[in-house]
Amino acid sequence: MKKIAILGSTGSIGQNTLEVVRRFPDKLKVEVLVAGCNLNLLRQQIEEFHPRAVAVRAEEDARQLRQEVKKTSLKVYAGEKGLEEVVCFPEIDLVVSAITGVAGLKPTLKALELGVDVALANKESMVVAGPFIKKIAARTHAKIIPIDSEHSGIFQCLDGRPLKSVRKVYLTASGGPFLRVPLEDLANKSQSEALAHPRWKMGKKVSIDSATLMNKGLELIEARFLFDLRPEQLDVLIHPQSIVHALVEFRDGSCLAQLSQTDMKIPIQYALSYPERWETTGNSLDLSEVKNLEFLKVEESRFPLLALARRALEVGGSLPVVLNAANEVAVEAFLEDNINFRQIYEVVEYCLMQHSPRDINSLDEVLDIDQETRKLAREFLKGKVKSK
Ligand SMILES: NC(=O)c1ccc[n+]([C@@H]2O[C@H](COP(=O)([O-])OP(=O)(O)OC[C@H]3O[C@@H](n4cnc5c(N)ncnc54)[C@H](OP(=O)(O)O)[C@@H]3O)[C@@H](O)[C@H]2O)c1
Repeated sequence: MKKIAILGSTGSIGQNTLEVVRRFPDKLKVEVLVAGCNLNLLRQQIEEFHPRAVAVRAEEDARQLRQEVKKTSLKVYAGEKGLEEVVCFPEIDLVVSAITGVAGLKPTLKALELGVDVALANKESMVVAGPFIKKIAARTHAKIIPIDSEHSGIFQCLDGRPLKSVRKVYLTASGGPFLRVPLEDLANKSQSEALAHPRWKMGKKVSIDSATLMNKGLELIEARFLFDLRPEQLDVLIHPQSIVHALVEFRDGSCLAQLSQTDMKIPIQYALSYPERWETTGNSLDLSEVKNLEFLKVEESRFPLLALARRALEVGGSLPVVLNAANEVAVEAFLEDNINFRQIYEVVEYCLMQHSPRDINSLDEVLDIDQETRKLAREFLKGKVKSK
């Protein structure tokens, strides 16, 4: 029985993870659940999965929950500290890291420091602190198993093959909801249009990142650190069908691709079962039904945020931290209806322009740059009025 902790259990990845747990009650046991503020859903999950501990973002919510479960042995924690405490719960075999944004960094690091394997969905952690995360995992021999479908695809194609045999790695992108929208109409796309992803049902932040293609930019940086690749070995292909998730081209010209239905439960289950593969039904891929598999180059003028992300990928050091923090603030502002779609780019570009890239030598530096950038982005936003 694998004992798991799910950070972000009330989110899209978290709920899909619990769906996998439902399929395999004799193989997986939920020990810890972590949510932000969706208490109602967390209550249902507690009732169904009987974890030993839970954590929520606010102390007030934790107090209320403690009151409700006082006749049980369930432990309830709160805040950043609480998040780290639940990860330290004894006998956890695998932590599913599925909180959105840099908020997921510290508990992910804590798990790896303890030598606990991590199934990683939270790409932002790897983007801002990839070299530190890898170093800690190497020291403690904890495994990092990717959940992101593209990285799960690369992981499966590489399957222990030597890095020196790899020429190029391609991540695919569906192109999101605006792949074929006339360029002049892009600026004023509404929140609901940006959230309507044609292929994947995901949380709000990652859906907006998919519409701008920043998601693919973050994934390039994630892949660089996760698999120790050079920036020039990484590229993106638009693949509207979202059937091929990644392709690895080897030095002899041979190419391996990973294909599956567009269903996050497939890479999640692989991360939970790794290195085994567990039998499931109803998710076979019938390529004769799919018929077409298209691959297109990215139209950079449509997705300018991807070019900014590529720059951060190439320069490295502090730049990915700035890119990520500025983007988190900008997407939040868009979701709060304070800026329009095009202005997400303006915020990120401004913060990158203001920053002189440098090497980063400690995690504290990562967190300082993250905070400084958020402040800068918010100040920039104060001067912005949503232009229609
Ligand atoms: N969704 C996908 O298909 C997908 C695919 C690949 C990678 N990813 C990555 O996986 C991560 C999660 O994505 P998602 O789509 O599942 O996001 P989501 O639906 O927005 O869920 C985020 C989860 O994190 C929790 N949370 C947020 N801030 C928190 C905090 N400060 N403390 C504790 N919990 C907090 C939320 O709790 P509440 O809802 O209770 O507030 C929720 O459970 C992201 O990094 C994303 O890029 C997602």
